[in-house]
Amino acid sequence: MTDDTTRVTRADASDLDGILALQAGNQIARGGTLAASLPPERVVAMMAAMPLIVARRGARVVGFLLTTDRAMNADLAIVRAMFAAYPGAPDAYVYGPICVDADARGQGLAQRMFDALRVLEPGREGVLFIRTDNTPSLRAHLKMGMREVARFPFNGFEYAVFAYVG
Ligand SMILES: CC(C)(COP(=O)(O)OP(=O)(O)OC[C@H]1O[C@@H](n2cnc3c(N)ncnc32)[C@H](O)[C@@H]1OP(=O)(O)O)[C@@H](O)C(=O)NCCC(=O)NCCS
Repeated sequence: MTDDTTRVTRADASDLDGILALQAGNQIARGGTLAASLPPERVVAMMAAMPLIVARRGARVVGFLLTTDRAMNADLAIVRAMFAAYPGAPDAYVYGPICVDADARGQGLAQRMFDALRVLEPGREGVLFIRTDNTPSLRAHLKMGMREVARFPFNGFEYAVFAYVG
């Protein structure tokens, strides 16, 4: 579907509440597939260090694609497990989480946010993990041209590691 009403841009401070609301609505505890709930101060720090991407319809955030540099993620066990399974380039950054509002899925917004990110981080490797039972996410990221480079177990689930060069 062609979508002229959704703007995909780099996130700024005015997007923080929208990002947090979308994140909250997609937690596993609420029937979603997002495992992590990043606190506001963490998202603010990520925004200062790396480009974060949002999709907005009017004032509403209907999608986000977050990124972090490697050092900032050193405190997250699942990210350590990912880099143990696939070391990546020294300056590789972590892609994700990505989330599109349920009523805006299947319209290419994940692809558009990825395209916007690549413009801002050309030539740099991005690395991400996807739970292997998250079929929509696996398919969306394969379709973006990313490739699976490793797998690792974590907390009773299996995760695929994907990587790409921007
Ligand atoms: C994964 C996610 C971000 C994809 O966003 P999206 O904007 O719907 O993705 P796109 O429209 O760019 O889809 C690209 C491809 O993904 C696949 N896809 C998207 N939704 C799908 C679904 N519900 N079932 C199966 N495949 C799906 C399709 O192959 C699609 O291409 P097509 O439309 O030509 O068939 C979205 O489903 C989402 O937010 N899920 C909940 C949060 C989450 O799981 N995030 C990922 C954590 S790793």
